[in-house]
Amino acid sequence: MKPPRKLHIKSYGCQMNVYDAQRMVDTLARENFVETDRAEDADLVILNTCHIREKASEKVYSELGRMRLAKQARARDGRNMRIAVAGCVAQAEGEEIVRRAPVVDVVVGPQNYQNLPQLLARAERDGKAIETEFPAEDKFALLAQPRPAQIRARGISAFVTVQEGCDKFCTFCVVPYTRGAELSRPVVQIIDEAKRLADNGVRELTLIGQNVNAYHGEGPDGRNWPLGKLLHRLGEIPGLARLRYSTSHPRDVDDSLIAAHRDLPTLMPFVHLPVQSGSDRILSAMNRKHTVGDYLATIDRFRKARQDIAFSSDFIVGFPGESEQDFSATLALVMQIGYAAAYSFKYSPRPGTPAAEIEETVSAADMDERLVRLQQLIDSQQSAFNRAAIGTRVDVLFERAARNPGQIVGRTAYLQPAHVMASPEIIGQVLPVKIEGLKRYSLLGQLASSEFSRGNQPAASSVSIGA
Ligand code: 5AD
Ligand code: SF4
Repeated sequence: MKPPRKLHIKSYGCQMNVYDAQRMVDTLARENFVETDRAEDADLVILNTCHIREKASEKVYSELGRMRLAKQARARDGRNMRIAVAGCVAQAEGEEIVRRAPVVDVVVGPQNYQNLPQLLARAERDGKAIETEFPAEDKFALLAQPRPAQIRARGISAFVTVQEGCDKFCTFCVVPYTRGAELSRPVVQIIDEAKRLADNGVRELTLIGQNVNAYHGEGPDGRNWPLGKLLHRLGEIPGLARLRYSTSHPRDVDDSLIAAHRDLPTLMPFVHLPVQSGSDRILSAMNRKHTVGDYLATIDRFRKARQDIAFSSDFIVGFPGESEQDFSATLALVMQIGYAAAYSFKYSPRPGTPAAEIEETVSAADMDERLVRLQQLIDSQQSAFNRAAIGTRVDVLFERAARNPGQIVGRTAYLQPAHVMASPEIIGQVLPVKIEGLKRYSLLGQLASSEFSRGNQPAASSVSIGA
């Protein structure tokens, strides 16, 4: 056994990166690496990067500047620090990273994490190691799974990647280039991983993928299973109280997924369904493969299957060619749907994507102004959605102690944080909570059953919530 070494990993971007970071930690645990929160203590620092928008990749280079100083400080004490860049910037820029930041020892793309131990050995031998291939092997089968104690330490809510990559080629998006072609994991592999998580205390599972509802993994019957069928099977695993999935493409909402929402009480009625724009002209320029009408019809199918369903979405403002009229159509769509939450971004040209070749027509000032208007509208919808919970009883899955002593925090079906005064033994349980107030985006309330309550809940206005 190698002597213990310390690993610090910092992830940017999406949930896929969170999942990947955990698999890297689990894989390096086999080499006797243990995780540390402090980069300066680490023998190995991994920056798990995101390339989706400009700012995301710029952050990496400024972080590498800080790491260079940390590495120099360790060298003065006669200790080494290896620096690895993983994730989508690694995939997109490859050797360029080492040219721009010579402090980097290893560059590893998302399809190569199973080779991390060998890449580290190669860097020790040759100085640098760069791997950004798309190998044919099943990386998910080769990456280590977490040990039971590690699963417990990570808490009651877990992600499982079920599909990776994307074949949609929206004109603004780097994902088809950095994560590659759409690939679904076999059903049995996912079920085994989910059972292991449930056996070790996980109560909520979120299936993730760049285009998760394009899932079509091989089932035990030799046929390709759609996401809805996979969800039905996962619904049979004892202990899993809640199932979610993200991120969906409006075009891939099939009848199996709608049926899953109709039939499975454990499938949460909250769907992230990015639309990007409310203008058909812009949707077409984005190559989204759906119109506003298609999107509205899809929302309708979900609502018919489950009346309490709510939606979140992603929007891009200032795509090349977006007129004030196109933008108004986006606002109108948001008004029509009424979102529980949504993310909105300024368009950022990504090198190598078709949209990056189109001339930008929206000025920086107009883009800023459109973003503010959209975010104000979304914010008002989110606040209204949260306010509507006041006075109702909602089920909350409790996750952890809040920073405020005596408070426990959990989440509602719609991922709203909810705080109550209670004993920590409720962590991991789904319990009804009477919602009494709001503090920013958090709900405040009391357990509807008094069994676990700890003292009386102070008036909502006097409760300051934890993180
Ligand atoms: N510019 C701005 N936003 C983008 N997104 C993806 N690519 C870009 C880009 N080039 C947004 C989309 C997507 C979310 C993950 O990021 O809204 O749904
Ligand atoms: Fe990117 Fe479009 Fe694929 Fe989503 S569907 S990952 S936005 S190419």
